[in-house]
Amino acid sequence: MKKYRWLSVALCLVLVLGLGAAASAAVEGELEIFSWWAGDEGPALEALIALYESKYPNVTVINATVTGGSGVNAKAVLKTRMLGGDPPDSFQVHAGQELIGTWVVADRMEDLTWLFEEEDWFDAFPEDLFGLLSTEEGIWSVPVNIHRSNVLYFIPENLEKWGVEAPQTWDEFFEIAPKLVEQGVIPLSVGENWTATHLWESVALAVLGPDKYSDLWAGKLAWTSPEVIEVWELFGRILEYTNSDAPSLSWQQATDMVVEGQAAFNIMGDWASGYMSVTLNVKPGDGYGWAASPGTAGVFMALSDSFGIPVGCPNRENTIAWLKTIGSLEGQDTFNPLKGSISARVDSDLSKYDLYLQSAARDYQNDRIVGSLAHGVVANERFMNDFATVMDIFLANRDARAASNAAHVVAVQSGMAQ
Ligand code: GAL
Repeated sequence: MKKYRWLSVALCLVLVLGLGAAASAAVEGELEIFSWWAGDEGPALEALIALYESKYPNVTVINATVTGGSGVNAKAVLKTRMLGGDPPDSFQVHAGQELIGTWVVADRMEDLTWLFEEEDWFDAFPEDLFGLLSTEEGIWSVPVNIHRSNVLYFIPENLEKWGVEAPQTWDEFFEIAPKLVEQGVIPLSVGENWTATHLWESVALAVLGPDKYSDLWAGKLAWTSPEVIEVWELFGRILEYTNSDAPSLSWQQATDMVVEGQAAFNIMGDWASGYMSVTLNVKPGDGYGWAASPGTAGVFMALSDSFGIPVGCPNRENTIAWLKTIGSLEGQDTFNPLKGSISARVDSDLSKYDLYLQSAARDYQNDRIVGSLAHGVVANERFMNDFATVMDIFLANRDARAASNAAHVVAVQSGMAQ
């Protein structure tokens, strides 16, 4: 009896392994993955591609990247390709309005509900995230991570040397900033245009609080209201304490200024934590410190990178295999510890994540969640493009009222306000 039981187990194993091998053998040819994870933003994606290649050895992956933080350049190239009928097999896209309000409304994405059913993913990802990936008509992409945008970074050893502490509010920042300036230190480093928007969203959250911040994106709080004008005013005061060469710096260079002791603080998404620990070998805790950006403790400004199937993608089967890989537990736990993001899955093994990411995972569980502007959650591409111009003008003239008026026009034109 025992012998037969073993025989049947062995037979099942042969069948399962055989079918698995047949499934990966059917997946062959090329797979073009399009993203902005180039250069020192690349290690996490490269590890994920290596995992895919180990599962599907007959596929050659083309890692097509266009450099430029937050996808400023990649998104323009993608748009040309999509509109020209030349989509990549899959592309990096932020869950939320960048996906839904840009590509889904234009009927450019395939519904992936069947894949979520097949892979049993309905309980694997948090409910909040489904809100950003879906419409009533379907689910449009597979999330690979969750990033936090409202993080203040610093080097504890330097703060001690300069006799200051990480500010919990902007008032505290204004108290310590002159002290830093006296010592020849730039209080807050900033980089190119999109990093100013990144800072702006943290300032907006601090001034408005999570409810009104969300109201702004729901069209319920006017851009011309006194509170929003106050956001621009405070943002302008903060800019007085930033580096004058900001427009020519990438986000990595703005982070470098903190690590090298030229600046005290930087507000960036937690890809900066990945950059510091993986590329610069500056580790969380002993090396760098972090806190919620001033005035935003208890709120987690979230964003998520995801991938889907663009309509007409050349290698659909290979793309499906890619999506299965990135949505799997193994895929998420390979990618995220290197990326500086937490897993989008609820069942990840936190022991594989560093101190910073463990704390981010805890905060994601306990904090109030709001969506990032600079990284595609709350606004569509139309708004984002025009808001970059509003930002450029504000950086030059610091006119809060004019910026609020201009942003109002942009919100109306992009269908986000009346
Ligand atoms: C964000 C993206 C992150 C990171 C960052 C800097 O938009 O979600 O994964 O790549 O840009 O480029």
